[in-house]
Amino acid sequence: MTKVAIIGAGPCGLSMLRSFEQAEKKGEKIPEIVCFEKQEDWGGLWNYSWRTGSDQYGDPVPNSMYRYLWSNGPKECLEFADYSFDEHFGKPIPSFPPREVLYNYIIGRVKRGNLKDKVKFSTSVINIIYKENNFEVTSHDKKNEKFSKDIFDYVVISSGHFSVPFIPEYPGMKSFPGRIMHSHDFRDAEEFRDKNVIVLGSSYSAEDVALQCHKYGAKSVTIGYRHNAMGFKWPNGVKEVHYLDRLDGNKAIFKDGHQQEADVIILCSGYLHHFPFLKEELRLKTKNRLYPPKLYKGVVWQDNHQLLYLGMQDQFHTFNMFDCQAWYARDVIMNKIKLPDNSEIEKDINKWVSMEEKLENPDQMIDFQTEYTKELHGLSDYPKIDFELIRKHFKEWEHHKVEDIMTYRNKSFSSAVTGSIAPIHHTPWATAMDDSLKTFLNKEKI
Ligand SMILES: Cc1cc2nc3c(=O)[nH]c(=O)nc-3n(C[C@H](O)[C@H](O)[C@H](O)COP(=O)(O)OP(=O)(O)OC[C@H]3O[C@@H](n4cnc5c(N)ncnc54)[C@H](O)[C@@H]3O)c2cc1C
Ligand SMILES: NC(=O)c1ccc[n+]([C@@H]2O[C@H](COP(=O)([O-])OP(=O)(O)OC[C@H]3O[C@@H](n4cnc5c(N)ncnc54)[C@H](OP(=O)(O)O)[C@@H]3O)[C@@H](O)[C@H]2O)c1
Repeated sequence: MTKVAIIGAGPCGLSMLRSFEQAEKKGEKIPEIVCFEKQEDWGGLWNYSWRTGSDQYGDPVPNSMYRYLWSNGPKECLEFADYSFDEHFGKPIPSFPPREVLYNYIIGRVKRGNLKDKVKFSTSVINIIYKENNFEVTSHDKKNEKFSKDIFDYVVISSGHFSVPFIPEYPGMKSFPGRIMHSHDFRDAEEFRDKNVIVLGSSYSAEDVALQCHKYGAKSVTIGYRHNAMGFKWPNGVKEVHYLDRLDGNKAIFKDGHQQEADVIILCSGYLHHFPFLKEELRLKTKNRLYPPKLYKGVVWQDNHQLLYLGMQDQFHTFNMFDCQAWYARDVIMNKIKLPDNSEIEKDINKWVSMEEKLENPDQMIDFQTEYTKELHGLSDYPKIDFELIRKHFKEWEHHKVEDIMTYRNKSFSSAVTGSIAPIHHTPWATAMDDSLKTFLNKEKI
């Protein structure tokens, strides 16, 4: 019997498990599956942890999410085609839920069957080698201090790529009297009440960490961008300046001459694709981009078609794109999809990579990833979902952000799965301090 190892039980690993479950429900004979998850439970980044640094076994903590984190895109853009928000919550809910609500939704889809039996929890994969047409996977059961070697025909890497921080150094950091940290270790904005906060970066973490600190009472927030300013209309108390030049004592000095007293520096400088458990010839090496090279259809490792990667792209689309990838990967593994010859594979990868390199603005990037996801969607029996509507939603969302970065999360979108229209949330995001599922779902509009 074919044996498949899935590395990680975050949203991508769960999409993979779900795809096999759906095939089995249709009467197909599925491979034997083992999913390895180094955390105690499933859900990946969405499974919030208070921990930073190492876990109780000395393993690096993968979690990068924090308290009061709300979805930064409309939930209608990530909805599962085979499990709608309406089905899960029993009623339409607003478009921008907090983390706990999305976690509840992700887990709701997989917890009904017996998928949990296929996951080995608290078990880290520490080495994968390819020999004699198979993979030897070495794993570490952290609870029982047991090491095992198992043989698999296919390996699916779904270990995420927003867990290992990229940490640059700036002159003056060694003698800075305050705190220096990466957004990976950011857990609670309350900590920075009445503090002068410097945020370095110009992407989603920089934007959201800056706004979190502002919302929960920081004295000032100064964002230092490197290449392109985000350029939003920031609220009073938040400003965006050019790149940090150096720290001098507790003073941050920026390239444009701007100076700011600082209590804390939060590096929002992104993450590394990091696969210490993979041998060189199997290892994806890429920065955070929309089409990492060497992955056919963004999924199949060019040099070894028994190795598949999920979710390695920079992400506008998330959960339903992961599903389209998983359904495609499943059909490759189950031999329902025949891969073309090597030169065709090379040509297809090069086509996407060179298209990506020409993209100039967010609208084009949204189009690019929508086209990619639509193509994959057409290759499997993943249920019907209106990606054209999702494309339109993403562009509207981008424009809402430009209009007002403090109010874009108050907007409402329609479902590409059920057509239902999200109600407006009872409390505007800027004043919604409680992010619990109970408050989000139950309170009446005020
Ligand atoms: C701060 C932050 C906020 C985000 N907010 C949003 C949002 O609002 N909306 C959205 O759609 N997306 C958001 N994302 C994007 C996020 O990447 C995806 O939503 C999603 O979590 C990706 O799923 P994944 O399965 O690829 O990775 P992950 O969620 O990272 O899951 C990977 C899993 O693999 C496990 N693992 C890793 N290595 C090993 C190993 N060697 N052995 C065993 N197990 C292993 C990890 O423990 C983890 O459980 C956010 C990301 C970050 C960092
Ligand atoms: N739900 C939410 O609200 C929320 C919040 C946070 C994050 N997220 C998600 O988390 C994921 C990761 O986002 P991210 O922003 O952490 O990573 P990212 O999108 O990969 O961006 C990395 C940022 O780091 C900057 N950078 C790199 N090296 C730097 C250096 N030496 N000095 C200064 N800046 C440097 C880059 O700037 P250059 O452009 O100059 O290279 C870029 O702005 C995304 O999927 C995002 O959606 C979501």
